[in-house]
Amino acid sequence: MDLSAFPRVALGSWPTPLDEAPRLAAALGAPRVLIKRDDVNGLGAGGNKLRKLEFLLGRAVEQGADTIITFGALQTNHGRQTAAACAKLGLRCELVLTAKVPMKGDAYEKSGNVVLDHMFGANVHVCADADETVKAYESVNHDKAVTLPVGGSNGLGALGYVNAAAELVGQLTERGIGTATVVVPDGSGATAAGLALGIELLGWPGTVHAASVSHPAAEAGRELHALAAEAAALLGEPAPELARVTVTDDTIGPGYGVPTPEMWSVLKLFAETEGVVLDPVYTGKAAVKFREIASQSDVPVVFLHTGGLPGFYGYAPEAVAQF
Ligand SMILES: Cc1ncc(COP(=O)(O)O)c(C=O)c1O
Repeated sequence: MDLSAFPRVALGSWPTPLDEAPRLAAALGAPRVLIKRDDVNGLGAGGNKLRKLEFLLGRAVEQGADTIITFGALQTNHGRQTAAACAKLGLRCELVLTAKVPMKGDAYEKSGNVVLDHMFGANVHVCADADETVKAYESVNHDKAVTLPVGGSNGLGALGYVNAAAELVGQLTERGIGTATVVVPDGSGATAAGLALGIELLGWPGTVHAASVSHPAAEAGRELHALAAEAAALLGEPAPELARVTVTDDTIGPGYGVPTPEMWSVLKLFAETEGVVLDPVYTGKAAVKFREIASQSDVPVVFLHTGGLPGFYGYAPEAVAQF
């Protein structure tokens, strides 16, 4: 997979670590557990969006953009990483955020990712509904602005995770691991789509499990296939089959961004066995699925840690009540 034809800016530190997690494996009764640390890739408190943004902003810079506009929920990690990347590249950043998660209070509305967005110099537009979002978008859009989709999820963004698939398979192969199940959180979809496409193009025999944190599994699965096909087309490849990919939604609970008891318990498990912090919205809910899969697996299981630590602080009062 040669991605050198795509313009790219350098944002993260690569490769990210692939850590053994023996105490977590023992707690789960799993043969071997590894954590792929895409949460510790450097810029702006890190996370999965940096891999996508290297390609998305590479093209925006090549097009002569001076402003980047993107969208998300109030505690969007994508928005925060976009703001950090724009700070580093000297671009103006407009974040059009919608209050769609039923969480209230200073921690959720002002702390966590939100305070970092301001620190990175982004202009933050908080909108109550779709109408306000459209108005805010129209007020900041102009000729030299480039608009990125929610979560940085399109075919170009997914190439970041096609690249990550090669990195991960290389690390596993070096350790003599020929196959594994990789569990990944699925929100806007391009992380799981890129990973699944990359693994198929490499002909690696492992499987990918995408744990949806927001959409019903059927919808998330359709989106994953569409994004993987879009990324494949950019590479001049046919739409992938994705035969070794599964998608579930049974750990979402009452809704996107709404904490569940199982999520808190798995946050505690990762923290007290491995000193690893997960977030309540993405990695925490995916890790509930990971816990189930790992405890039944007879092959090594990899948890793709996609970041989100700043989002944890948006839920500080709820976390304090738990721990
Ligand atoms: C911490 C974290 N993990 C996972 C995801 C999901 O990635 P994707 O939107 O590519 O499905 C996100 C997306 O916002 C995220 O912030």
